[in-house]
Amino acid sequence: MKIRKAVVTSAGWGTRFLPATKSQPKEMLPLIDKPIIQYVIEEAVASGLEQIIIVTALGKHAIENHFDRSFELEHVLRQKGDERLLREVQRISELASICYIRQKEQLGLGHAVSITQDLVGDEPFALFLPDDIIEAEVPAMKQMLQVHDRYGCSVVAVETVPPENTAAYGIISPKQVEERVYQVLDLVEKPEPEEAPSNLGIVGRYILTPEIFSVLKETPPGKGGEIQLTDGLRLLLQQQALYAYRFQGTRHDTGTPLGFLKASVELALHCPDLASEFKEYLRKLDLPH
Ligand code: G1P
Repeated sequence: MKIRKAVVTSAGWGTRFLPATKSQPKEMLPLIDKPIIQYVIEEAVASGLEQIIIVTALGKHAIENHFDRSFELEHVLRQKGDERLLREVQRISELASICYIRQKEQLGLGHAVSITQDLVGDEPFALFLPDDIIEAEVPAMKQMLQVHDRYGCSVVAVETVPPENTAAYGIISPKQVEERVYQVLDLVEKPEPEEAPSNLGIVGRYILTPEIFSVLKETPPGKGGEIQLTDGLRLLLQQQALYAYRFQGTRHDTGTPLGFLKASVELALHCPDLASEFKEYLRKLDLPH
C-alpha cells in the first residue's frame, strides 16, 4: 500500500533549551537559516509524502504560522523587489498539505503517535521526530519506503551508536537479512550499556503499520513514566514482523544544545554560501586545549 501520510511529533517542552524555548517552540530554532522542523517537512515531501500531520501543543503557534502564507511579508518583499526571498517564503507555504493536532498532556512519544489515529486512518504511515536531521543523497525516509515496499512491515531507522550511549536510544536486537536491513527480534527503550542487546540505536524515522494504534492503547507507561513507542513496537512484534534499516546518510541530533551546536557547524561547512569563509574563521580560532 502506498504510504501517503507523515506524522511529525513536535509537542515537547524543549526544556533542554530553556530559556530559548520559554516562548517559542524548540522546533523553530534555526539551523543556519531554516527552522529545524522545516528540514523534516522537506525530507517528507522529497520522499513523496503528501499529507503531513504535525502533533503540536500549547505555545506552538509559530509552527503553524511558519507553514502558512504571510501576505504582509510577501507584500513587503514584493515592494522591495526581493524576488528570491519572496519565492522562498511562498514555497514554504506551498510545501505540503499540513494539519495539526494538539497533544493536551505530555504523556510520551507513544501517546503523541496514538492521538493521530483518526487522522491517519487504517493505513501505514511515516513518522518523523524532528530532533533528528538527516543529511543524505537519497532522503532517509525515501530509503526506508523502499524497505517497506519489499517487506510490507513496520520499519525503524537505526544507526550504530557508541556502546556507552545506549541509554539515549531505543536499541534493537537484530538479525541481519540483507545489507543494511535487519529483522528486529526484540527492542528495548534506553537500556544501560550492560543490558543493551546491540549497539544499533533507533533514530527518529519510522514506518508504522496502523496496528500500532491498537497496541499503543495497551502499552503501559515505561521509561520516565511515559508511554514509549519502543514499548508499543515490542508489543506489535507479538503480532507482526518488524524490520530495521541502517540508512545511508549523516544524522545530526539537534535534541541537546551540544548536538544542536555540532549540527549547526556541520551544516554550515556543507553550505555553499558559508563554507569557505566559515572554514577560514574556524582555522583562525585559537582553540584552548
Ligand atoms: C526517542 C525514542 C527513542 C529513539 C530516539 C531517537 O527518544 O524514544 O527510542 O531512539 O527518540 O531520536 P528521545 O530522544 O525523544 O528521548
